[in-house]
Amino acid sequence: MARNKDPQGTPGPPTTVVLFGATGDLARRKLLPGMFHLLRSGLLPHVQIVGTSLDEHTRESFIEFTRASLDEFAGDVTEAEWADYSSRLFWAKPGIGNLHAAIEEAEAGCTEPQQRLHYLSVPPKAAMSVIHDLKAAGLVDRSRVIMEKPFGTDLASARQLNAAVHEVFDEEQVFRIDHFLGKEAALNILAFRFANGLFEPIWNRTMIDHIQIDVPEELGLEQRASFYESTGAYRDMVVTHLFQVLAFTAMEPPTELNPQAITEEKNKVFRSMLPIEPKDVVRGQYAGYRDEPGVAPDSETETFIALKCYVDNWRWAGVPFYLRTGKRLAAGQRIISVAFKEPPKSMFPAGSGIGQNGPDHLTFDLADRSKVSLSFYGKRPGPGFRLEKVSMQFSMEETSWSGSVLEAYERLILEAVKGNHTLFTTAQGVERLWEVSAPLLENPTPVRMYEPGSWGPNQIHQLIAPHAWRLPFERRWRD
Ligand code: BG6
Repeated sequence: MARNKDPQGTPGPPTTVVLFGATGDLARRKLLPGMFHLLRSGLLPHVQIVGTSLDEHTRESFIEFTRASLDEFAGDVTEAEWADYSSRLFWAKPGIGNLHAAIEEAEAGCTEPQQRLHYLSVPPKAAMSVIHDLKAAGLVDRSRVIMEKPFGTDLASARQLNAAVHEVFDEEQVFRIDHFLGKEAALNILAFRFANGLFEPIWNRTMIDHIQIDVPEELGLEQRASFYESTGAYRDMVVTHLFQVLAFTAMEPPTELNPQAITEEKNKVFRSMLPIEPKDVVRGQYAGYRDEPGVAPDSETETFIALKCYVDNWRWAGVPFYLRTGKRLAAGQRIISVAFKEPPKSMFPAGSGIGQNGPDHLTFDLADRSKVSLSFYGKRPGPGFRLEKVSMQFSMEETSWSGSVLEAYERLILEAVKGNHTLFTTAQGVERLWEVSAPLLENPTPVRMYEPGSWGPNQIHQLIAPHAWRLPFERRWRD
């Protein structure tokens, strides 16, 4: 695979994006506004978009749908920008002939040949039939395909899906999306760790006590009951987003900033992970979930999960990684918190405040307004020797670059257009994560009820003892 020669982020080549599931929630919230932003910022100057879905639409009504999505999610749009974007939107009714005709119409005025990017924003069950349609329609050459997670539901189904996809597309053409890998803040973990001399020497089992990757959500099901019932929090969030973030946090320094080197190091982390043991997992379900429309009255689907796992290699042996995520929790946060070991001896007497607020921590906030904070003990001014936890914080919002942040899907669409696999998952990596998950999937622990608005079932405290969950923060982030 080619070396990444594009550190400045150059524009992508002429591309026709064929968007399957074009009137779904993801398209409305992220993909249609995202491609608009890429066009407006000059990163995707020659894009044409062919939408298609099972919903009844015409080109006109798809354009109206897109306008409404931009009004809601794209901020201010000028008349000229809208005129340009809307002229690039086309619609294909279901059926191979219609798809061909719409692509032809979209590309009619293009001066250079367009490559095609098929974005499968469809439920996992529908993905294979779209792949077969693409083959039947002869839309495989000059094409790439973006597939949404979760990729399979266990090892056997992931293998089957990978094999079936590979019958049609080469691995080089496949981009399995995990939008957490496109988040600016997730990429900043790599910069933080590997562009500085300060942190890497302490990034290991000698200095680090444990790591928390905590992604509670306030959101509930948001009309996704049928997807969520068959997915649950583990498949929706852990085997995908949280493990990918874990890999960025735990991996060895890659030899180069290129897809192969980074994938190699991530896959080594996945290979070193110990299987997830049911005894190290708390599954939860919020009270009232079973009354939601579309949810079975005896559903055992977890809307919450917290677990302890290990990366059993020289750097991390014995260091627990605690992961937590769930719906309808007390707050929406996305943090990685690295807890350092306490000093071996303390000259500070009991009552001085030492250790009172947990160990010193480094915290990454993976929210779009990304932040990093180092919390440590300092002396409270005045007589005596009282210690207080204080912090140094960096916030991207306070820099002059805050307007240049690319939304995760925007970045990933752009990278796929350019054929750069660095931020995508591989067949091998995905399969290994299902393998690690097998003991839990085969013997899931019973779901425990929790109150909406809480931090999950009580058992989460036993899971992490003698440590404590970093959230809720004892102090708010500085505004
Ligand atoms: C999606 C999950 O992949 O990620 C959702 O399917 C979840 O259930 C979402 O809410 C969280 O993403 P973000 O970027 O809003 O943190």
